[in-house]
Amino acid sequence: MGNTDRQFGPVARALHWWSALLVIGAIALIEAKGWFEKGSDTRALLGLLHMQAGALILLLTVPRIVWRFTQPLPPITPAPPPWQDGLAHLMHFVFYAALIALPVSGVLMKQAHGDAVVLLGMSLPALIAPDPGLREYLHELHELLGNAMIALIVAHVAAAVVHHRVQRDDTLTRMLPGKG
Ligand code: HEM
Ligand code: HEM
Repeated sequence: MGNTDRQFGPVARALHWWSALLVIGAIALIEAKGWFEKGSDTRALLGLLHMQAGALILLLTVPRIVWRFTQPLPPITPAPPPWQDGLAHLMHFVFYAALIALPVSGVLMKQAHGDAVVLLGMSLPALIAPDPGLREYLHELHELLGNAMIALIVAHVAAAVVHHRVQRDDTLTRMLPGKG
């Protein structure tokens, strides 16, 4: 279950790939929402699915962070230069912060708009009262974080490809099944 000195274990890999799928899904759903007319059922459904995917991401990220800090990190072989390690740690920290801040800002944005937020069949308690000014601020924050997330994903995937194809180290294979 846990990480070994050669590979991320099944738990870390499952948390990573399910989060990746949900994050890409949440972004695709909200993009697709824009293709449909305001007030249409399809638009409402896509928005609802976006929120459900976002809520699941928060549910996965909390245990993921706990798991991250209680498991050994499998070292990369051959070892990359220290500046790359430093940059990767910084990127991963920003990722975790965004994975928490995005769903939280999404929920608060809806509540500031005066909407009840139903996540996974449960109505969340109202954490804040309706407030149009705050809603506008949270909307901008959510949009900014969403765009930052897209940029982070592009950089992250590019880094994974460079490690695999150019540096020819095991950064990517550590995150894939089957290395033992
Ligand atoms: C990691 C999870 C999430 C990601 C990556 C994400 C990302 C995004 C992105 C990229 C947009 C489009 C912003 C724009 O350009 O207008 C957006 C919009 C939106 N998100 Fe999220 N989001 C997440 C979670 C949530 C959650 C949990 C909720 C609410 C419960 C939520 C509610 C909304 C709403 C209502 C909009 C539309 C805002 C509008 O009216 O334009 N999001 N989100
Ligand atoms: C799309 C959303 C994604 C998110 C939010 C995400 C997030 C993360 C985070 C936070 C880590 C750090 C793990 C740690 O704490 O050590 C990580 C590691 C990793 N991710 Fe992703 N990831 C995504 C997609 C992908 C994709 C598509 C690939 C493959 C092309 C990928 C490949 C990797 C690899 C190889 C690692 C290990 C890196 C290392 O140990 O330095 N990720 N990812």
